[in-house]
Amino acid sequence: MAPCVSCFLLAVLISAGCKAIPSSDPKCTEKEGNRTYNCENLGLREIPDTLPNTTEVLEFSFNFLPTIQNTTFSRLINLIFLDLTSKVKISIYPQSLCRCQINWVHEDTFQSHHQLNTIVLTGNPLIFMAETSLTGPKLLKHLFLTQTGISNLEFIPVHNLENLESLHLGSNHISSINLPENFPTQNLKVLDFQNNAIHYISRKDTNALEQATNLSLNFNGNDIKGIEPGAFNSKIFQSLKFGGSLNLSIVFKGLQNCTIQSLWLGTFEDTDDQDLTSATFEGLCDMSVESINLQKHHFNDLSSSTFRCFTRLQELDLTAAHLKGLPSGIEGMNSLKKLVLNANNFDQLCQINAASFPSLRELYIKGNMRKLDLGTRCLEKLETLQKLDLSHSDIEASDCCNLQLKNLRHLQYLNLSYNEPLGLEDQAFKECPQLELLDLAFTHLRVKAPHSPFQNLHLLRVLNLSHCLLDTSNQHLLAGLRDLRHLNLQGNSFQDGSISKTNLLQTVGSLEILILSSCSLLSIDQQAFQGLGNVNHLDLSYNSLTGDSTDALNHLKGIYLNLASNNIRIIPPHLLPALSQQSTINLSHNPLDCTCSNIHFITWYKENLHKLEDLEETTCANPPSLRGMKLSNVKLHCGLTGMGIFFIVVFVFLLILLLIFSVKFILRWKYQHI
Ligand SMILES: *[C@@H]1O[C@H](CO)[C@@H](O)[C@H](O)[C@H]1NC(C)=O
Ligand SMILES: *[C@@H]1O[C@H](CO)[C@@H](O)[C@H](O)[C@H]1NC(C)=O
Ligand SMILES: *[C@@H]1O[C@H](CO)[C@@H](O)[C@H](O)[C@H]1NC(C)=O
Ligand SMILES: *[C@@H]1O[C@H](CO)[C@@H](O)[C@H](O)[C@H]1NC(C)=O
Ligand SMILES: *[C@@H]1O[C@H](CO)[C@@H](O)[C@H](O)[C@H]1NC(C)=O
Ligand SMILES: *[C@@H]1O[C@H](CO)[C@@H](O)[C@H](O)[C@H]1NC(C)=O
Ligand SMILES: *[C@@H]1O[C@H](CO)[C@@H](O)[C@H](O)[C@H]1NC(C)=O
Ligand SMILES: *[C@@H]1O[C@H](CO)[C@@H](O)[C@H](O)[C@H]1NC(C)=O
Ligand SMILES: *[C@@H]1O[C@H](CO)[C@@H](O)[C@H](O)[C@H]1NC(C)=O
Repeated sequence: MAPCVSCFLLAVLISAGCKAIPSSDPKCTEKEGNRTYNCENLGLREIPDTLPNTTEVLEFSFNFLPTIQNTTFSRLINLIFLDLTSKVKISIYPQSLCRCQINWVHEDTFQSHHQLNTIVLTGNPLIFMAETSLTGPKLLKHLFLTQTGISNLEFIPVHNLENLESLHLGSNHISSINLPENFPTQNLKVLDFQNNAIHYISRKDTNALEQATNLSLNFNGNDIKGIEPGAFNSKIFQSLKFGGSLNLSIVFKGLQNCTIQSLWLGTFEDTDDQDLTSATFEGLCDMSVESINLQKHHFNDLSSSTFRCFTRLQELDLTAAHLKGLPSGIEGMNSLKKLVLNANNFDQLCQINAASFPSLRELYIKGNMRKLDLGTRCLEKLETLQKLDLSHSDIEASDCCNLQLKNLRHLQYLNLSYNEPLGLEDQAFKECPQLELLDLAFTHLRVKAPHSPFQNLHLLRVLNLSHCLLDTSNQHLLAGLRDLRHLNLQGNSFQDGSISKTNLLQTVGSLEILILSSCSLLSIDQQAFQGLGNVNHLDLSYNSLTGDSTDALNHLKGIYLNLASNNIRIIPPHLLPALSQQSTINLSHNPLDCTCSNIHFITWYKENLHKLEDLEETTCANPPSLRGMKLSNVKLHCGLTGMGIFFIVVFVFLLILLLIFSVKFILRWKYQHI
């Protein structure tokens, strides 16, 4: 770690090649008054004088600081978070390959920064860090040395790192995780070694981590070729990641007697790893794991014996594991609570042999690669199932869903969004009376009027029916939803573009959030929302409503109201009280009229700016001379009010009267003098 002359010369040479791109007026942006500043990518070579001493959070990525020393940040002693991320900059001129990043972190760089909590040095090709460079910040918790060219952990100055919680060392050239002897690990929670060159883990390596309890250790992207027997003996980890290791047998064998909350063993698209067999998992019997992820692997000879050592698992993730089915006869998996089978190749739901997992609470079969047939009674043994996600799986059914979801008495969450047309029978979810959330978005629903498919769902709170091509004229569609709080009807259309006095919302009086955006609405009847007294959020954006429709809001008070992107030009004075009584209103992207015929609304608007959001995008469309001007900036002089006109008429009338009298007088005078 001692400074070496050649390193120093190299650093000088490299930094001499730096050329700051002169920015015309580099100015850091203030994110939060006197505390948070962003100076990213401004070509800066030093901390600008404009930054106040009170700065606590500083984003200083992608600038030109070749070295940092005790003067660089000396003024900013309140720093808590410092981001100095850099990236390799290669000039377009081949003769001046320019890497203008931090190479050198000098002595006492942060000596007065007692509050500094996070330092990010990602992407800087560090050549030297002085032994005392990190001594000041006694509270340093997070240190990012990702992609800094480190090959040996001795490089990291260990003084005063007692409070370190996370150390990020990804994308370097590290081959051994052997931490320096005096490295303080007692508070370490996250140690990230992903994408290094670690192939072997010894007992000595892991013993250095003895004091770190509940550690999350990441070896993704290192091909582990050997683990010394006993290296993980009686060690406890929050999470271990060995993603991208080519031979998982080695990993399972090496982890003998280890206790792990979450073991991530997925693979990546570009790794040429070996297929998994029953033998691969042999080591799993000799350790304790709660949750395991095997995403994107291929299984060879998948049979019930493959799962022999899985019996103590609580969570299993087999996302994109090229599965066509799960074998029957899997035994002993009574502990499994969560099973993820997303992005596989099932043809029929019964192919997962759900009966093997009788204690399942959550089941995810999202994004199946083939058209998934729900079959009948495939999940009937899952009596404790609470959460079922079947979205994006090309499911089509003409008569849904009582046979398909037979016996799911405890189901609370059902996601059937993004599927093919579903025909919903009367009381279609009778088998799942406990449902609290039902998501049917983007699934074309066929419901025979006058029935309600949701009749028995007394506990349902959230119903997403967006883009379902619903027949909204069926006034009974939502009957029975006694406790519904959140209803999304986005993207469905109403007859004649109008919500009439009697409509399907009348049966859901408990609603709090109602989304009616993009419903091609032209008008809303004045009485349409009567009975929706609990609504506090109403989204009517992206329709073609005019100012007159605001009459329907008379019944609502103190709500968040979104009327953005409608066809509102003028709001007549008698409708302004309906707006005044709401708490927040979005009127952006409407073709607002900024002439005197709308002066009452404009005056109201300026007096209620605190209630309005998106003032920047609330602009005039008419007259042409004011098009695009923010409504809040409009200044109108509308002299000719009704009163004005009255006075002018009276004045003209008097003038004419005067004229007549004068003419009469002159004529009389003339005749008298003839
Ligand atoms: C920021 O500092 C300036 C000058 O010290 C002070 O006037 C201003 O009130 C401060 N602003 C905030 C948000 O603290
Ligand atoms: C920085 O270090 C130099 C040399 O060690 C020292 O003379 C100077 O006082 C230090 N400056 C600050 C602000 O600590
Ligand atoms: C900021 O700190 C520097 C050095 O500590 C000091 O000289 C300067 O007066 C301070 N500025 C303000 C505005 O307090
Ligand atoms: C272990 O760490 C995880 C998150 O890193 C945390 O949720 C959990 O409570 C911790 N457990 C113990 C026993 O400290
Ligand atoms: C695992 O624990 C058992 C029983 O304590 C012991 O016999 C065995 O040697 C341990 N395995 C390793 C690899 O240390
Ligand atoms: C994977 O590792 C296991 C155990 O270390 C070894 O027996 C097996 O031959 C390896 N597989 C391959 C294909 O190298
Ligand atoms: C249902 O699934 C879709 C697609 O996977 C997802 O976007 C949506 O957030 C899910 N719904 C809920 C309520 O989680
Ligand atoms: C449906 O609405 C719920 C509640 O707002 C939301 O969580 C979910 O993501 C929505 N589904 C889709 C597919 O957007
Ligand atoms: C106003 O509504 C539009 C349309 O929904 C939305 O894009 C915009 O973000 C909203 N403005 C604010 C400040 O939320």
